[in-house]
Amino acid sequence: MSLPDGPKSPKIWQMLQWITMPFSFMRGCSDRYGDRFTLTFFSRKLPPVVFFSNPKALQVILTSDDSELFDSPGYLNALLEPLIGTQSVMGLSGDRHRRMRQLLMPSFHGERMRSYGQLIRDITVEVMSQWGAGKTFPVRKSMQKISMRVILRAVFGVNEGTRYQQLERLVGMMLDGVSNPLSVSFLYVPMLRQDFGPLSPWGSFVRTRRQIDQLIYDEIAERRTHPDASRNDILTLLMGARDEAGEALTDAELRDELITLLMAGHETTATAITWALYWIHKFPMVRNQLLNELQALDGPLDFSTLFRLPYLNAVCCETLRIYPVVIATFARVTKSPIELMGSSLGPGTIVVGCIYLVHRREDVYPDPDEFRPERFLERRYSPFEYLPFGGGVRRCIGMAFAQFEMKLVISGILSGFELALAESRCVRPVRRGLTSGPSPFRMVVKGHRPCPRNVKTAPETS
Ligand code: HEM
Repeated sequence: MSLPDGPKSPKIWQMLQWITMPFSFMRGCSDRYGDRFTLTFFSRKLPPVVFFSNPKALQVILTSDDSELFDSPGYLNALLEPLIGTQSVMGLSGDRHRRMRQLLMPSFHGERMRSYGQLIRDITVEVMSQWGAGKTFPVRKSMQKISMRVILRAVFGVNEGTRYQQLERLVGMMLDGVSNPLSVSFLYVPMLRQDFGPLSPWGSFVRTRRQIDQLIYDEIAERRTHPDASRNDILTLLMGARDEAGEALTDAELRDELITLLMAGHETTATAITWALYWIHKFPMVRNQLLNELQALDGPLDFSTLFRLPYLNAVCCETLRIYPVVIATFARVTKSPIELMGSSLGPGTIVVGCIYLVHRREDVYPDPDEFRPERFLERRYSPFEYLPFGGGVRRCIGMAFAQFEMKLVISGILSGFELALAESRCVRPVRRGLTSGPSPFRMVVKGHRPCPRNVKTAPETS
């Protein structure tokens, strides 16, 4: 049994490269070692990790995720504990993990998901209308505002009032606090978690987290005192759930689930929309084709039709291909000895699928570094060739919801606002906490489009 080859540099250097320049580091490793290599990080919580980027290997790993060959235990996500606690769906394993997924999934699919259509459009207009003609705006910040309000509404059923405004601000602060490479290091290296007061990175993080927890616990307490069975938000759903012994979730369990959804559901989607707006406005042909498709829609606006528009779908897919927001899948572990792509892996080997490298394979995506949405109109890709949301038993719970939101926000912005990139400087991918995203850029509102059918006026907010 031996692990595939990989860099021989010191563990701390491998970790620094993974944190500060993950894309060029991954490419360097794949150029040198091919489509499987082993990295060793400077962390007691992380043993050596084998990265695979061959779709055949990913098919084996992700289709036998919960079998005698591979497992996907929650403890492998311990890295996320400071953010999401110990009882989040991401940290659960086996039956408890399966049950929690079953409980959460319906909120992000089908009718329940579609019922958010108008809300997403209204929030988009509400946020974008803050920027008058001629004004420049920071794209990520605006998209974060939209996705945060959407997820708050899905989770709590409301997004207005002091508690939600505080949550919106504090969750944003907490994520920004771990977005730069230096501060994300304390997730990887527990010994860096030192509280040197409110101005130190960890000190500020724990204080913000405490305030968020208090707001969530206050909300739970209020709901326990005044239960309202007619609500269909996720918190109501989770509070009504019982396990096979008839036990309800504890407040701490509820907190971990809610914060997971707020974290996972807001930052990732905001990043994807931010990238999409960049690509669409960088390439006028893409923007024109998209506008033509949107303008050809007739009759009352129907979100299901919008969701199926081929070119809009292709633009969203290509956005998530070229720089996937999540660079690698969660870790899996081998349960028995296995031969995979010429390597003999012993039991207990940690493996991940490197989404970014799979998406940049020349044999699957000719000219992989080019943004070309048409590739998604010309052929279909298998779930092991295209996997921005991972796969197997841990496939993203919010996949359909994120795609729905992306399409509604992008089409809403394009239909209602004429935008342009405000600067010609190059936008590059950078790490943002545990995910990646574009370096900050601004856009300018050149005007509003007279397309009232596609954009409903935002209601007055109190
Ligand atoms: C563009 C947006 C998003 C991207 C690219 C994304 C990507 C991912 C990826 C790659 C995984 C790991 C899957 C694996 O290891 O196989 C994941 C897991 C997860 N995502 Fe997302 N995600 C997005 C949006 C969302 C949203 C909107 C939500 C919920 C509101 C969400 C909730 C989750 C949860 C709860 C998990 C953990 C699932 C589990 O452990 O069983 N994500 N996501």
